[in-house]
Amino acid sequence: MLNLKQSIITGAALSLFITAAAQNKELTIQTKKIGAPIQPTMYGLFFEDINYAADGGLYAEMIKNRSFEFPQNFMGWNTFGNVELTTQNAPFEKNPHYVRLTSANHGHKATGLENEGFFGVAYKKGEDYRFSVWAKSDKGESRIKVEFINQNNDPFEKQEIKIDSKEWKKYEVVIKSSQTVAKGKLRIFLDSKNGVDLEHISLFPVDTYKGEVNGLRKDLAQALEDINPGVFRFPGGCIVEGTDLETRYDWKKSVGPVENRPLNENRWNYTFQHRMYPDYFQSYGLGFYEYFLLSEQMGAEPLPIVSCGLACQFQNDDASAHVAVCDLDGYIQDALDLIEFANGDTTTTWGKLRADMGHPASFNLKYIGVGNEQWGSEYPERLEPFVKAIRSKYPKMQIIGSSGPNSEGKEFDYLWPEMKKLKVDLVDEHFYRSEEWFLNQGARYDKYDRKGPKVFAGEYACHPKNRKNNFMSALSEAAFMTGLERNADIVHMATYAPLFAHVEGWQWRPDMIWFDNLNSVKSINYYVQQMYGHNPGTNVLPLTMDGKSVSGQDGLFASAVLDKNTKTYIVKVANTSDKAQNLVLNFNGFAKNASAKGTKTVLISENLDVENTLDNPNAVIPVESSFSVSGNKVEVELPAKSFTMYKVTL
Ligand code: AHR
Repeated sequence: MLNLKQSIITGAALSLFITAAAQNKELTIQTKKIGAPIQPTMYGLFFEDINYAADGGLYAEMIKNRSFEFPQNFMGWNTFGNVELTTQNAPFEKNPHYVRLTSANHGHKATGLENEGFFGVAYKKGEDYRFSVWAKSDKGESRIKVEFINQNNDPFEKQEIKIDSKEWKKYEVVIKSSQTVAKGKLRIFLDSKNGVDLEHISLFPVDTYKGEVNGLRKDLAQALEDINPGVFRFPGGCIVEGTDLETRYDWKKSVGPVENRPLNENRWNYTFQHRMYPDYFQSYGLGFYEYFLLSEQMGAEPLPIVSCGLACQFQNDDASAHVAVCDLDGYIQDALDLIEFANGDTTTTWGKLRADMGHPASFNLKYIGVGNEQWGSEYPERLEPFVKAIRSKYPKMQIIGSSGPNSEGKEFDYLWPEMKKLKVDLVDEHFYRSEEWFLNQGARYDKYDRKGPKVFAGEYACHPKNRKNNFMSALSEAAFMTGLERNADIVHMATYAPLFAHVEGWQWRPDMIWFDNLNSVKSINYYVQQMYGHNPGTNVLPLTMDGKSVSGQDGLFASAVLDKNTKTYIVKVANTSDKAQNLVLNFNGFAKNASAKGTKTVLISENLDVENTLDNPNAVIPVESSFSVSGNKVEVELPAKSFTMYKVTL
């Protein structure tokens, strides 16, 4: 008989001990029946420039409208003295506007401009910032002064730059901040009699993710890496489609020298009248090269989505808004060229550009999505020529098609068979649904056709009525995801959406990571993704209760996997009911005298509406404790409303 004292490792593990006694509920894990492999892409990330996720967010540029190309050319800028907008002999043809500063002609007057940043320019005490500008001085040497301004309008850092050439040239200085300022400004003024021309005025923290110069905000990119994503989908979302085709995401505009990437409107600027952001644009500074690089740096498979020639169907009823099927050649060529950009030899046109940008090696692209959230017959008829062209040139490329914007219903039922006919490799499903929906869908994939395309749950999130990232939404997702895991033979990818939101600039919620200009917070939903992302296993193990998979009986949801590499058995169990439940985990196949150490990680809250916020970022986080296993049965108590992961390494 078990010595109870021996089995208790920590106080937190009190509820977990080994027993041979029969229990009324037993989860049987068949440890010797090693099931389907789990794809390394299983748990990933969906990125879209919504909620200021790119400019003003992940992309670390602090200056808004740095090239004066917003339709209102001085949007984001405050000018004083003699500042003129011009395009004469512009250095960057795709961003032709720049500013000419001339003397105010009086010792007590000044010429200059200030940038308001994205909801302010934020500085951190002790941090270095790289200011850069393209400039020329037609009439001999001139000087500008760069100042960091705090919320009291005090300049607290100053740096002079001499402009010593009549030719356009890049000037750069690094300035250390002596203050932390949440909502400051950047001011530049002319400090000489001679005037100066300025273009592409930029300010980045030096300490970006992996130290890249045109880099990403470190805390935000690190949060992505910390999920251990298997796949990284970009650039969206509806942004792929655009409000009209003119404003669709055009990857070719997003590569090459950053100064010459043209501005694009952001499709989310006017979408919701109650959350309208007329200053929301895409600089394309975070472009396809940067997305591929980030994927590589995080160890995730890149998954770009390209336009199929349909502008956002929510926003365009008229057929003339879309490209006719017979006119799709340019779009198809864009998809083929993208594959060449990612993988092509450096002697190819697009492979050479990738090499010129700093990455001669292939990005090893394996997946491409065509169309985002399209529906109706207009979608398959456009997808078909893409599939033919991609298959013929790149037969190994995995192609992803869409099942529309809904998790079920007419469009969904129409598109799945169409995707099968077209033999796409994966079908992208989207579901933003209530807690009830998620808890009713635990067995969603149990009956899916095993022979057809695989599933990419490409956008999903639990939407409670108040649209908060609350605990109950995270628990519902955790419970639902046991069904993804159990069906990993056909579910090959899943990505929560959207990823980021600026607390002052969001259009859509819930979102996985929230931030302001200084700090960020990981939602409880993030921690669910992280628990799965770090513990995907390599193979599914059958797990049953009374001979059935556990997908909602008594509010319980469960799945089990084996990580062959580490010989670790991982069981994930959500108790969504209102009462604590006692269970036995029966590791069928473990020796009767098995002995091992295990860890248990619990996400739990009595307050179902609680969220992690910038002020209280750790309201609910996973808590880990250890336990020991002896024998093959482990008795556990699952608290009400909890998600628990048990790991045993033999
Ligand atoms: O994730 C937000 C939006 O939801 C995506 O852009 C779109 O694909 C879906 O409708």
